[in-house]
Amino acid sequence: MAVLFVTRQIPEVGLQALRAAGHEVVVSDKDGVLTHDELLTALRARPYEGVVSLLTDQIDGSVLDAAPHVRIVANYAVGYNNIALEVMQARGVVVTNTPGVLTSSVAEFTLALMFAIAKRIPEADRFTRAGRFEGWAPELLLGSDLRGKTLGIIGAGRIGYEVALAAHLGLGMSVVYNDAKASELLESKIPATFYASLDAMLPVADVVSIHVPLLPATEHLITAERLALMKPSAYLINTARGPIIDEAALIYALKNGVIRGAGLDVFEAEPTISPELLALDNVIATPHIASATTETRDKMALMVAENINDFFAGIAPTNRVSVV
Ligand code: DGY
Repeated sequence: MAVLFVTRQIPEVGLQALRAAGHEVVVSDKDGVLTHDELLTALRARPYEGVVSLLTDQIDGSVLDAAPHVRIVANYAVGYNNIALEVMQARGVVVTNTPGVLTSSVAEFTLALMFAIAKRIPEADRFTRAGRFEGWAPELLLGSDLRGKTLGIIGAGRIGYEVALAAHLGLGMSVVYNDAKASELLESKIPATFYASLDAMLPVADVVSIHVPLLPATEHLITAERLALMKPSAYLINTARGPIIDEAALIYALKNGVIRGAGLDVFEAEPTISPELLALDNVIATPHIASATTETRDKMALMVAENINDFFAGIAPTNRVSVV
């Protein structure tokens, strides 16, 4: 059985499943994200064979130099842009993630951001708490309806698919989507229009929601030019990864009426967020919590444990990721 390092406390249910399989589990005792140097120091302490990492840990060649016995890195996230996958693969280290179990939570959160920005809920809450409510008024805090509007999905994978279905079936929104290829699954469930060109889709959508992974090809996918293609009345939602949007360009667009608003759960240099962005009333900013429900985080922890337990039992982990 293996000695494992967990870079930060995750739900106990996952740790128990690892211990029940006979592994020795060492959890970082720091109440916060380890700096890269702290991570390397912690890894040098024991001959660790497996690491449970978070999306805030940079897992690269220096990690394997510090922990040369590591054979598996199980990321506690579906996204794995924090891991140098080529390096891991070249050095024979298996990498796993946690797909599927967080789909519904992230889709629900995406819809929550859509509602919240379109109905100006955080802004209205701030207004009310500030004692500014002087009675019902015909034009107080006017927002937008979603019913009958068009949702533009960027990336019709698991989460994009679920957001599209909920928006169409629950809100009567029309759905257009952009991806590398058309989704037979999505089109078999609802009338959704595929756009091979993102530039062609953006002018059509009233709400644009991002559901692609962060890859070199998707970094700054949303540029100033693309924001200018959107309707001035449109909203942009991002529950994927911050660097997909050129944040400086987004700030300009939000300040100058290029688009109406944005609901953001992720940021280009998180946890640092531009004060200029946070000063805007037409932005909702949440701290990367789209998957943060008790149910989902427990499932993610169990999936991490299953990936590691399978690996050390000689079974190929279901959620192994590899360079495509
Ligand atoms: C992920 O899993 O990639 C999310 O961003 C956090 O749960």
